[in-house]
Amino acid sequence: MHRETRAVLHGLRRYEEGVESPSGTSPLLRRGIHRIEKALLMRPRRDVFALEYIGETVDAYCKASASAHVDSGELAWAGDVLAAYFSAVRLTPLLASLKSEFEAPRGGAAVSPERLVPYRRGEPALPEGAFAALEAVARHRKSVRWFQRREVPRPLLDAAVACASTAPSACNRQPFVFRIFDDPAWVRRLAAIPMGTHGYHENIPVLIIVMGRLRDFFSERDRHLIYVDGSLAAMTLILALEAQGLSTCCINWPDIEAREAALAEALYLEPDTRAVMFIAVGYADPDGQVAYSKRKPLDQLRSYNDDRGAGNRHP
Ligand SMILES: Cc1cc2nc3c(=O)[nH]c(=O)nc-3n(C[C@H](O)[C@H](O)[C@H](O)COP(=O)(O)O)c2cc1C
Repeated sequence: MHRETRAVLHGLRRYEEGVESPSGTSPLLRRGIHRIEKALLMRPRRDVFALEYIGETVDAYCKASASAHVDSGELAWAGDVLAAYFSAVRLTPLLASLKSEFEAPRGGAAVSPERLVPYRRGEPALPEGAFAALEAVARHRKSVRWFQRREVPRPLLDAAVACASTAPSACNRQPFVFRIFDDPAWVRRLAAIPMGTHGYHENIPVLIIVMGRLRDFFSERDRHLIYVDGSLAAMTLILALEAQGLSTCCINWPDIEAREAALAEALYLEPDTRAVMFIAVGYADPDGQVAYSKRKPLDQLRSYNDDRGAGNRHP
């Protein structure tokens, strides 16, 4: 608990620093632009909207534009959405002044060629058999702990990370990073730090650490999101690896002082950067066994409209 408090406080401080001089990404800008996109697609849409956060979002946009270190894609998306906002909203004197402030950094309200704004989706068709394919990949996945001594091509890892980036995240902040280690010396050093690799850590070809960044949040109320968002992205990553012929095993990250310290020292981690889980990756050894791992039946996993389910106060 003490470490969690320290991590959250450090994250809040780094968040505030990031608001003043954003670098790489601006969580305030991402959240504000996300909220504006949601407001733009609201039905019905009011003629004046988003007043509670448009000021701080324009301010974040101007600071991000002034920084040489903010991702150009993030800026293009933010610029396009703000341009769409100012052309949709009825301009009150306050909004007219914010519009000028927004347009100043780029000398006008130009939008990017892709127009990165809310759009009517229509009915995009999925390929025939999409569920069967997804289910086949999900059922094919098993936790694999014995791997071939075979190099894992980085393009496959990168393709899986790109696929994982499509996972949903709260306010689209994506408060995680995948730290990939495919250098055997690194893997040897890191794979032994969590407890759950006992007996097979020397057999892991690639190790991915899903790291959460608490500096992406302005309030401690959101501190759990690194685990929620990180795990959703991790699952997409795992399925993407599986679909490319690779196998994985999730590895628990225990909240134990000595292990936290060992990981922080190995990777020079700041206190707000926390491991969500480790993932072992490689080509499965066909002679290695996997656990049967019987699943719970459907009726123990779900209920519909039921007020007597697990966790309820009533019998
Ligand atoms: C969050 C999480 C932590 C896990 N930690 C470990 C671990 O430390 N060591 C390990 O060998 N397996 C670990 N596993 C793998 C589980 O044991 C495995 O997913 C489960 O028993 C079901 O088996 P299956 O994945 O083969 O279907 C973990 C899985 C998850 C999702």
